[in-house]
Amino acid sequence: MIKIGYGAWVREFEAERERRAALGDPDWGRGARLPAEIVRSIQKFQVGEDGDGSALCGKADRAGDPAYSEAVRLFIAEEQNHARMLKLLLEAGGAGTLGGHWSDAAFVRVRRLLGLRVELLVLMLAEVVALGYYRALRDGAADPLAREVAGRILADEERHVPFHCLRL
Ligand SMILES: [Fe+2]
Ligand SMILES: [Fe+2]
Repeated sequence: MIKIGYGAWVREFEAERERRAALGDPDWGRGARLPAEIVRSIQKFQVGEDGDGSALCGKADRAGDPAYSEAVRLFIAEEQNHARMLKLLLEAGGAGTLGGHWSDAAFVRVRRLLGLRVELLVLMLAEVVALGYYRALRDGAADPLAREVAGRILADEERHVPFHCLRL
């Protein structure tokens, strides 16, 4: 197999982490006015974003490319940041999370049996659905905090799709 340069992806993810730190968090203190149906959709996506990613890490490590392993860990950190921001957005709107996350569901026991390639295909599907959702939330939500969070997450998801495509 041709080794593709994941070093560039590691640098890209690291640069993004620095941009994120420099920018700081959205102003949660301003609160959010979220209609009930928006709250329910955010709660569902919050569960989807959450998880420790250990199954994916293990598979990435077995692929035997340290730069890819590193890039996957940085990718997982971005997804965990999405879960964190959605939780804080829900709190700003006076709502809670659904609790539990995909990494302890029966679904995950099935996913552990999959190879890296199929795992990435499942993940890609989720990423494409997420792109549509966050774009709709960014452009359609009435609440400014919800629009800001959706815009930030969308910018990350737009990089995730080509990252998985490169591996596939
Ligand atoms: Fe995400
Ligand atoms: Fe993503």
